[in-house]
Amino acid sequence: MRKAFLFVVLSLFLVFKGIADEGMWLPMLIGKNLAEMQRMGFKLTAEDLYNVNGSSLKDAIVQFGGGCTGELISAEGLLITNHHCGYPEIQSHSTIENNLLANGFWAASRADELPNPGLEVKFLVRMDDVTNRVLKNLTPGMNERERLMSIQQVADSLIQLAEKEGVGYEAIIRPFYYGNQYYMFVYQVYKDVRLVGAPPDAIGKFGGDTDNWVWPRHTGDFSLFRIYADKNNNPAPYSPSNVPFKPKKFFKISMRGVKEGDFTLVYGFPGRTQQFITSHAVNLLINQSNPNKIGLRDIRLSIFKSFMDANDTIAIKYAAKHARVANAWKKWIGETMGLRRLDAVAQKQELENMFAAWAATNPELKERYGWLLPKFQNLYSELAPLSLVVDYRNEAVYGVELLSFASRFERLLSMAIDPKADKEKLIEQRENLKDYVRDFFKDFELDVDREVFAALMKAYQERVPQKLQPEFLNKFMLQSGNWRQLAGQIYSQTVFADSVRVLTLLNDIDSTSAREFLNDPIFNIYFEFEDYYRKNVQKRYFEITDSLEILYRTYVEGLMRMQPDKRFYPDANSTLRIAYGKVAGFNPRDGVVYDYYTTIDGIYEKSQQRNVPDYVPPKRLMELYQAKDFGPYAVNGTVPVAFIASNHTTGGNSGSPVLDAEGNLIGVNFDRCWESTMSDVMFDPNYCRNISLDMRYALFIIDKYAGAKNLINEMVILQ
Ligand code: ARG
Ligand code: ASP
Repeated sequence: MRKAFLFVVLSLFLVFKGIADEGMWLPMLIGKNLAEMQRMGFKLTAEDLYNVNGSSLKDAIVQFGGGCTGELISAEGLLITNHHCGYPEIQSHSTIENNLLANGFWAASRADELPNPGLEVKFLVRMDDVTNRVLKNLTPGMNERERLMSIQQVADSLIQLAEKEGVGYEAIIRPFYYGNQYYMFVYQVYKDVRLVGAPPDAIGKFGGDTDNWVWPRHTGDFSLFRIYADKNNNPAPYSPSNVPFKPKKFFKISMRGVKEGDFTLVYGFPGRTQQFITSHAVNLLINQSNPNKIGLRDIRLSIFKSFMDANDTIAIKYAAKHARVANAWKKWIGETMGLRRLDAVAQKQELENMFAAWAATNPELKERYGWLLPKFQNLYSELAPLSLVVDYRNEAVYGVELLSFASRFERLLSMAIDPKADKEKLIEQRENLKDYVRDFFKDFELDVDREVFAALMKAYQERVPQKLQPEFLNKFMLQSGNWRQLAGQIYSQTVFADSVRVLTLLNDIDSTSAREFLNDPIFNIYFEFEDYYRKNVQKRYFEITDSLEILYRTYVEGLMRMQPDKRFYPDANSTLRIAYGKVAGFNPRDGVVYDYYTTIDGIYEKSQQRNVPDYVPPKRLMELYQAKDFGPYAVNGTVPVAFIASNHTTGGNSGSPVLDAEGNLIGVNFDRCWESTMSDVMFDPNYCRNISLDMRYALFIIDKYAGAKNLINEMVILQ
């Protein structure tokens, strides 16, 4: 009884007041949170964080390469981000003879810094609330398509104007709260970004997949780049005559360290969260979608692993693939466990019951919101089987490398057999495809993929209800049912497995050579799946997801009216956000307490475990450790490596600056704890912790391990 009462009071408190550490706030509106932030220890003002009329901390932050965040740490354009964010660049400069992944890289001089075609960083110049402007031409009778077109029209003209304001400006308008609000983001984009430094994998990826998403963590997950500009400090394509960029603002690095309870702020580009989804959606996620996707990746990962364990060449070829497949797989497992632990479906239902009761309180509310929840229920039950096919399409069909490879040929092939097709477009397509083909075969191993094919086709046939399957699977099942034998036949016949033949056929692609691809067994299997999906799933699937988008627009509007005192924050959508919280350990499981920081002692400890290839630190690091040669970075006879805090972060926040109460850089965000990964759907301050690299470990590696004093000297380090 007492407990029940407490629970109600507590949940009302959570619903109405918001939770101190939850939230990814818009920099432009951060003033609304300032009182709370200051109560938690923050010492700066809202203008220090975001100010369009002068420089502010936002000017030291970039979206790095599309999917990550980075920050400036010197007056000469030096930037720090994660090692896993700079990985493609570090890899692209690596060869067998000069393996930067294995050995690390430290540019001895500016001239040695390595250019990276294709890599961009974006500074946010400003953001504007454009809601009223983009919605001004809407009329009540418009359907969704007309609505979007009207919005697009205004948006395009605003974007065009904004992009004329400065060199390298790019603007984008994004919906917030499912289209209840719109903001324009104006960026300045720099395209000459050079690799300056990276520790070896054995530091930058220490712990590998074993420790990924896990605390305690000991990964030196950082790399260094430098932005170059033309003589006027403006963006310019790569040129040897470019000069280091002079930022409006860069972070001072604090060596003062963190204590439990200290204020922390993460300022970066979180990618995607779904805090508003209903109980029906959470149910679909944790009881259907995640388990299916996890199950299919279990199959792929165990096949990868058996080949990688047996063969060193395959181990190298599949290292990045394995890491990519394992990353989301492990996150989904953590997310599912977390949402179940929180009884998220029941929590969502409770909110929905409140919403329904509120919406019944007067006729206006009833008309606008009363029908929403039953409609959600209907749409999600209709969506469930379709979304199952979509998940199997992504994970089982596209999980087979050759099927995914074959899918890339479809457009070109249909052009090649169409006498009316535009010749120039055809040639352009073909050339792009040739680059892709060469890339594909670099890391492809036929034996691995044949096993994957057999296992995933079998899983598809066994696990997907028959009425949701393309017919050929069942036909084959009735004929023989020996998937490995089928795989053996197909993989020995298909031209897609033969890079030379594929390239030759592509070189003089015409309707005859196109037929050879079109008649290929791999292409045909790909097409059977695709044809089934297009005829039976695609259209309705997108109709439903579009309808859900509209329902959520009204639902979220209603939630905001129902809770007028609650401070709402929009879901992450790859725009710049502020998350604040405190340094804190936690209690992840029964009988387990996590401390808030790790040290180099833990690297030594892990290295003593037998036969864990992810736990092999470089010899030189262990020599420094044994000699306690820590320079000025020692704290109580050791070096701090990582710490956890209660900042609300997600994918895309990797590389984000982690700031102390004065706005100095104390860490670089790189991950979350496994028990925290449900935070994309439901944040819980008792369990949600982001993991940051301690800047003192980064400095120790740059200075003592790499001896790159030149880099240390350009930073401003507060003792
Ligand atoms: N889990 C982190 C993130 O989602 C780091 C991934 C990179 N590390 C790895 N071992 N795969 O990006
Ligand atoms: N590791 C993630 C990233 O790369 C961060 C996270 O999901 O917490 O952005």
